[in-house]
Amino acid sequence: MMRRILAFAASLFAGIALGCSAAVGDPNYGFETGDFTGWTVAGDAFAVSGELRYDTIRYYLPGGDRHARGSDPGTGTLTSTPFTLSSGWISFLLSGGATGGVHVAVVDADTGAELVRTGNPFYDAPDITETYQRVNLDLSAWIGRTLAVVVTDGSPEDHLNFDDFTVDDEAAHLEHAVETNIRMGLDTYDDMIKAADIYIKLNAWKTPASARFLFHVTGETGWINDPNGFTYFGDKIHLFYQHNPYQTVWGPMHWGHVTSDDFIRWTYHEVALAPEHDYETVGAFSGSAIAFGGKLYLVYTGASDGRQVQAVASSTDGFRFTKYAGNPVIGEGLLPQNASVADFRDPKVWEKDGTVYMIVSNRNATNQYSKLLLYKTTNMTDWSYAGRIFQNGGNYQSKLGIMFECPDLVTLGDKDVIIVSPQAVPGHQNGDGNVYIVGNLNYRTGAFENWNFEDVATIDAGFDFYAPQTMKMPDGRSIMVAWMQSWNRRPIYAGTGIAGALTIPREIWLVGNKLYQAPIREIANYHANATIDTIPVSAGGSVHDDRLDGIFQDLSIAFTPGAGKTGVTVFDDGSDNGMKIWYEDGRVWLDRYGVTAGQYAATDFHNLTSVECPLVDGKVELRIILDRYSCELFVAEGYKTITATALPNAMQTQVLLYSEGPTVFDVEQYDIVF
Ligand code: FRU
Repeated sequence: MMRRILAFAASLFAGIALGCSAAVGDPNYGFETGDFTGWTVAGDAFAVSGELRYDTIRYYLPGGDRHARGSDPGTGTLTSTPFTLSSGWISFLLSGGATGGVHVAVVDADTGAELVRTGNPFYDAPDITETYQRVNLDLSAWIGRTLAVVVTDGSPEDHLNFDDFTVDDEAAHLEHAVETNIRMGLDTYDDMIKAADIYIKLNAWKTPASARFLFHVTGETGWINDPNGFTYFGDKIHLFYQHNPYQTVWGPMHWGHVTSDDFIRWTYHEVALAPEHDYETVGAFSGSAIAFGGKLYLVYTGASDGRQVQAVASSTDGFRFTKYAGNPVIGEGLLPQNASVADFRDPKVWEKDGTVYMIVSNRNATNQYSKLLLYKTTNMTDWSYAGRIFQNGGNYQSKLGIMFECPDLVTLGDKDVIIVSPQAVPGHQNGDGNVYIVGNLNYRTGAFENWNFEDVATIDAGFDFYAPQTMKMPDGRSIMVAWMQSWNRRPIYAGTGIAGALTIPREIWLVGNKLYQAPIREIANYHANATIDTIPVSAGGSVHDDRLDGIFQDLSIAFTPGAGKTGVTVFDDGSDNGMKIWYEDGRVWLDRYGVTAGQYAATDFHNLTSVECPLVDGKVELRIILDRYSCELFVAEGYKTITATALPNAMQTQVLLYSEGPTVFDVEQYDIVF
């Protein structure tokens, strides 16, 4: 073995002498290029890996999406491009490493002499052997010398993982010292809310305002998915979201928290829920909130390995939540027959005549389909089973897929509307769909009645709409918000450090059995620079009127349809390259290929979608809300919607009107300004 290590050492210093020329601070010191660019590799110990979990419930928590993972039984070394220190500190993440045969050394790049050596100092801490810990080394004795870092796995029985190497950043060193505790806090369950909040504060500044949405909710940093706990409490609108603050990918689920007075301008608060207990080791999954008996209750799914249960937390101030000591409040014992405990999630609660009801999804134990269950309580902690609301099955698969996620039930007039996100809808552009079902809930039997399969319809036909949730405002309005993303593709702007956003809140109502949507009316409070005009476009022509340009816009256009395509391109670069929206033969189309920065292929059906477009007073009527990375299109006064995210480049800020026949556009446009 010793001979092999010496051989590695020889090849390693040869590598250093040849000197690959990646600059200090090369982003690939975090392996995000997906390969070992900037490193010299010897042996078979190390691979660049995108794997983020190291067992079913724990995470490595690397610095980004990729890291250098060591393997048993491989051995080898990983050597950095040489660097010269000016401040004296280096910093990296390290995990694994039980034995002395694995270590990280700092060497003199000219002579190969080893100056400092460390293993994983936290290896013996309970539970955190594979979770990355931050190691900071004071190298001030060698300022001005050319050094290299050598990660050595010299033991076939052991391995080290390595990531996020930074050189010469004293400020970062101070922050990272705190981060070490956070990563430890995360896995030793000390105070995971504090851990998350400190981590967020240390990292949120890395995404400047100029790289963020203006009025759509995202995490301050990291990943978000479903909206949760959308409610009104203590004179504030509360909105929570599924959140992994530590990475721009899904991971240990926390509940992030924002509040607003008007649905447009949001304020961040401390994380509301973190995964702390045995019943939620995989995460505090989706759920809802209710103001009840003077408190704000969060009702959510505790997910652990192969088991999902419903849990409750409460707060008197709406900001700090205490989990009920008797959690879970609904577990296996309250499941009906043919119910899987592994897929039992996403409770939505509402109150009727002093009783709180819950709709929650459950997969059948004997097949892939699912059902929606009803539970009830009068005190939030003692729940009873109250019936099966809805049963999915093979006959419904074309629209209702297999497993329901994030069910909601909202009463609109004399109808009840189930809103649900079915997984695996055949041929769906997002893989998973989003639908509504209009009928009536029979509270005596728990069954959903008076519904028609023919009327079951998609809520939003875009690429980025999932897991919508509703709330009622004191003024009687029903408001819906959804995750503005889908599971089958990565958030297109995730390179900014934030991944995932929520739609603009939308007012919803029924016309017959048809669900209509409009952007929340409070958006008008942020209107500026109105352009209200008619703009003629000659046959086969286009008009660029720069009054309409911008990436934070509320734009309405109406026109009498002629033959061929008539429409508007937003996020246009001046060369007809943007997000194209047009009317043709009774349908409205949206093609976003021009604003996907090549991330979704041209042939990908994900980039093109369409909806039926009835005329309003003889005109095509379109309303478009733009917010830097998103376009939400409301067709025919909310009859249909299409939501699409985008990654426009710096040139893609224009609005272009075009038409195959002569058209006069009625335009009403506002900039959204804070
Ligand atoms: C839907 C979902 C939910 C689950 C949550 C986990 O997007 O899969 O069913 O509770 O995300 O983050």
